[in-house]
Amino acid sequence: MSPPHAYHPPAPAAADIESYLEAQQRKSLLRFITCGSVDDGKSTLIGRLLYDSKMIFEDQLAALAADSARIGTQGQNLDFALLVDGLAAEREQGITIDVAYRYFATERRKFIVADTPGHEQYTRNMVTGASTAELAVILVDARLGVLTQTRRHSYLVQLLGIGNIVLAVNKMDLVGFDQTRFETIVGEYREFAERIGMRGIVAMPISGLRGDNIAARSQLTPWYRGPTLLEHLETVPLATDAQQARPLRMPVQWVNRPNHEFRGYSGLIAAGSVRPGDAVRVLPAGGATRISRIVTLDGDLPEAVAGQSVTLCFADELDCSRGCVIARADDPPEAADQFEATIVWMADEEMLPGRTYWLKLGTQTVTAQVQAPKYQVNVNTLEHLAARTLELNAIGVANISTDQPLVFEPYGQSRELGGFILIDKLSNATVAAGLLHFALRRASNIHWQQLDVTRELHAQLKHQKPAVLWFTGLSGAGKSTIANLVEKRLVRMNRHTFLLDGDNVRHGLNRDLGFSDADRVENIRRVGEVARLMTDAGLIVITAFISPFRAERALVRQMMAPGEFLEIHIDSTLAAAEARDVKGLYRKARAGQLKNFTGIDSPYEAPLAPEIHIDTARLSAEEAAELIVSRLP
Ligand code: ADX
Repeated sequence: MSPPHAYHPPAPAAADIESYLEAQQRKSLLRFITCGSVDDGKSTLIGRLLYDSKMIFEDQLAALAADSARIGTQGQNLDFALLVDGLAAEREQGITIDVAYRYFATERRKFIVADTPGHEQYTRNMVTGASTAELAVILVDARLGVLTQTRRHSYLVQLLGIGNIVLAVNKMDLVGFDQTRFETIVGEYREFAERIGMRGIVAMPISGLRGDNIAARSQLTPWYRGPTLLEHLETVPLATDAQQARPLRMPVQWVNRPNHEFRGYSGLIAAGSVRPGDAVRVLPAGGATRISRIVTLDGDLPEAVAGQSVTLCFADELDCSRGCVIARADDPPEAADQFEATIVWMADEEMLPGRTYWLKLGTQTVTAQVQAPKYQVNVNTLEHLAARTLELNAIGVANISTDQPLVFEPYGQSRELGGFILIDKLSNATVAAGLLHFALRRASNIHWQQLDVTRELHAQLKHQKPAVLWFTGLSGAGKSTIANLVEKRLVRMNRHTFLLDGDNVRHGLNRDLGFSDADRVENIRRVGEVARLMTDAGLIVITAFISPFRAERALVRQMMAPGEFLEIHIDSTLAAAEARDVKGLYRKARAGQLKNFTGIDSPYEAPLAPEIHIDTARLSAEEAAELIVSRLP
């Protein structure tokens, strides 16, 4: 065991405090992640780093802490075993919520370590912790060697583009500091690492419990010539240095206009450097100008580099708003609206291909649709598996389309312009993290054909205003019956109509779809597109689909011209629909012979503000049809 050297940092004298704080400010910051299963000794290692770095500053903890590390009080005795217990207990509490971040510092650097749980059901936590890390410490128990978990963690670390890997072969004390054992494990790991294209591995034999090769070189591994873990963490080159060498990229966070004195564009420089006079371009529009000033709170700068937050002013008036990217004029990033991406699904509800989500990439927010995955990755074996959707913690590759061009770079080149999240539009929850691979050329190769016979002309010829009468309601509520009566009335009035009915469309166009949530989303998306084409042809379209989800009804509404979409809720209680049970489906569903039946074991989200509400308990089908026709514009 290491000596119980409780540390009492000298309290800085009041006069020194300022210079001390300044020195802290100037220190570079390394964010890293530790991976490994509970038994690999992760808590012990982190405890050891905190303990041995001997500099855990209460003021920094307070300033930085998102979740408090209630340990390491300055000037108090610090018991190593207690510290580790505290960390482990906290980890356990935080396990299902998020990632625990720990802060410590040495003379040379500040550190933030993301401590994430190792099991497969916490893949999303690990992805969260790893997404901002520049280095990963992959822990392996010297007695057990490379395990399935080690491979999964390594795959994720590689996927997220962490360039610095420390393979920490831990518990060396339990294998008698045996060099051969160490080398066998390292050899095995390197072989696997090569398969996933991982480079930049530094392997070290350690004991977290005893402190061997953590802060001090171990007497028991004379055969090891590499750095100690802390030495390595203190000296490994930071990504910000590499980022500065790249062409300028600054996503605009907001437009700054103090006292109308000048107009400036504020944000964090993601890559490159900029000086007044530099030629820049504003993406996605592409307008070019020169930088006139670099403004900060402490005055104008002659140069700013990646990692700095500044306000840039232009020599010319140019359209530029939040979400735009200011880039070097002769080397700008691309803008596109269709991509291939890797997606890590993080929500309890599965991904719904075809549903629209908010996609947030840096300061840009757009509406995006994800297509059915091309494949899912088995993170333990790296096999590609067929998949129709992605469930919690699943990782897959899919195409994505957005409603507006996104300024981007492949994730492999830029985490800032290549990493994104998906957000559920109704709940506002983050449901996925993603990495853009490349733009699909299809987007720029398919154009809208200008047609001479316009939708207005089609409508004029038919002497009517096109519309979509969108019926929604439970199975057996009477949608088809009432829709049919409405259509007959309209035809008698010489209107040109077409009725799209769920059961019929599912025999043809949508016969490949079943009743999973994902399939229902796609069912409605397709019907929406068809209805849209029919309104272009000038028709009054009547649709009768359960269409159980608000999100897809909203999607279809958005596809239509304003005022052309009328949502009609055929409202019946479940009991009434079930009592009628015209097709005998409720009986089957109750008997367990029909899965995912709406109202039984699949949800129905009633409209909140439909244009027309039909209470089927009060109106007959004829009366309902009459009411609907009377309400048409
Ligand atoms: S939707 O949910 O995707 O809008 P849609 O209206 O096309 O459904 O199809 C519903 C019809 O399919 C029902 O009227 C019923 O006849 C039949 N059906 C078969 N299985 C189911 C099920 N599991 N849930 C609901 N309807 C089903």
